[in-house]
Amino acid sequence: MSKDKILVIGASGQIGVELTMALRGIHGDAQVIASDLREPNPLLLGTGPYVSLNVMNKEMLHVQVIRQNIKQIYLLAAILSATGEKNPGLAWNLNIQGLLNVLEIAKEEHLDKVYWPSSIAVFGPTSPKRDCPQQTIIEPITVYGISKYAGEFWCNYYHNRFGIDVRSLRYPGLISYKSEPGGGTTDYAVEIFHEALAAGRYECFLKPDTYLPMMYMPDAIRATLELMEAPAAAVRVRTSYNLSAMSFSPAEIAVEVAKYVPHFNMHYKPDYRQLIADSWPQSIDDSAAHTDWGWKPEYDLAAMTADMMRNLQTPPTS
Ligand code: SER
Repeated sequence: MSKDKILVIGASGQIGVELTMALRGIHGDAQVIASDLREPNPLLLGTGPYVSLNVMNKEMLHVQVIRQNIKQIYLLAAILSATGEKNPGLAWNLNIQGLLNVLEIAKEEHLDKVYWPSSIAVFGPTSPKRDCPQQTIIEPITVYGISKYAGEFWCNYYHNRFGIDVRSLRYPGLISYKSEPGGGTTDYAVEIFHEALAAGRYECFLKPDTYLPMMYMPDAIRATLELMEAPAAAVRVRTSYNLSAMSFSPAEIAVEVAKYVPHFNMHYKPDYRQLIADSWPQSIDDSAAHTDWGWKPEYDLAAMTADMMRNLQTPPTS
């Protein structure tokens, strides 16, 4: 039987849930196998096949790839920046060994394509703060950033050496309402919505003027699908593409949120995550993504806030 299915690893996570649903919308529910270590996210229940999978177990992963007729893998399982600092060894192992397992299986089984996300966390304090270019000084200070940067070069290596069509994006902080983020430094920009609506106040773990690159999830999903659909020859960056939509500070998003939550009150209590945030650029130059495969973001801060508020205030119907 010819290979015809897509495997999403880490399907219950913040990106995984929405990407799985989007892929099922395009390719059909049965064609997209969701997998995770965790229980399926409630939003995925009844929407298509699900297997329990640990990406660190290469043999089991290999068996599933063969058994399920997998032709493409989206590897989203990772430990993010803030959680990674609590257990650097585990973060390195999962982020790198998981990727190497997938790349090896892609080579052995001649998979069609692999997707693996990188992050703005590859950049460090010596990178340019504004309009940070695709190619620049890159000296990350978190284990997450180190693992993502090393992973980018593993992707590039497998592409050059073995012809694997592996593609990657350096996501900014991602804001979404369907599934929760897990352990990132940019998570405040999601928490603020939930706390504002539940309690009318939020204690932010970053300082008010901490500018960071951010993106609304619909843009991130569309970017991922557009990159994966682009002709292979157009995908000239085989490490990972810079990707950008908006930049804002906690003080600026607080002003937007207050337009929907009268008397909204924001307090600031910076913690260890401030150091991580301060090491990242404030904005990103993603012109290579524009040029190579036509990337164009849709949501700015005001449009994203309006859509978040609309969705969080309206209980889901299905
Ligand atoms: N959102 C991620 C984090 O904060 C960055 O890629 O760790």
